[in-house]
Amino acid sequence: MNTTDTARFLTMLASFSTNALTMGQRHARQQAERLAAALLETLLNAIDANDPDTGGHVRRVAAYSLELASAAGLDEPTMRSIERIALFHDIGKIHQALFDIVHDERKLTPADRRAIRTHPGRGADVLAPITPFYPDLRDGVLAHHEWWNGKGYPNSLRGQRIPLAARVVAIADTYDAVHHSRRYRGARGVQRALDVIAEGRGTQFDPELVDLFLCPPLVDALREIEQTMKRRTVRRGRERRSGRTQKAVDVTFRWRDELPEPLEKKSKRKSQPRARR
Ligand SMILES: [Fe+2]
Ligand SMILES: [Fe+2]
Repeated sequence: MNTTDTARFLTMLASFSTNALTMGQRHARQQAERLAAALLETLLNAIDANDPDTGGHVRRVAAYSLELASAAGLDEPTMRSIERIALFHDIGKIHQALFDIVHDERKLTPADRRAIRTHPGRGADVLAPITPFYPDLRDGVLAHHEWWNGKGYPNSLRGQRIPLAARVVAIADTYDAVHHSRRYRGARGVQRALDVIAEGRGTQFDPELVDLFLCPPLVDALREIEQTMKRRTVRRGRERRSGRTQKAVDVTFRWRDELPEPLEKKSKRKSQPRARR
């Protein structure tokens, strides 16, 4: 083998080992991502097992939040972050100290309301250990009851100081809370939920996000989610004494098929006549 051949051989060898390393690294990263997603899924299952009402609520809030985030044109990593924050925003409510208050059917007293206001902080504490892996999660959960005008809790953050994800989730959360029944209050319907969001524009909620949320294509998309819920009712907490079923959108982390389709695409698709079969 002459010098040129040796050099060629060494270059080939180097490129081969670099490719092998890259493949190995890719595989390791993929495994790490799967593990992280599985751990979050496990945490979500723990919420379901402890409190199926909250499990259903957070899944619906995640589905609505993703629609709003998609309408806002946010990129995929931001949407994934919003999805996680939506799914864990109320994890503090399953804390033993709040469980009876949240699940009691009587009207809330001022002391109950004060106690419930601790749930963002309790949730943030629960999630603290995974902060190095999901830096936005803890802050997003902590801020989901902050108000645009600074009158929210726990830190009275104002305007854009509130993380974007928390502003998105706050709207979806209120929509679901008004629209769906709670143990201590009946459902008040889609229109009332939309009115509450409109009334909170610029006070409770980010005005630009409210404008997007109330635009007719997005409202249609929310109704579509409702239809999907009816078709794919997930029976959670099957063995619960009450025998109630919880309607929930089937949202999964890594293995959900796709993020929501952008609204323009959706409306374009709707306006096109269907091909005859
Ligand atoms: Fe909350
Ligand atoms: Fe909530």
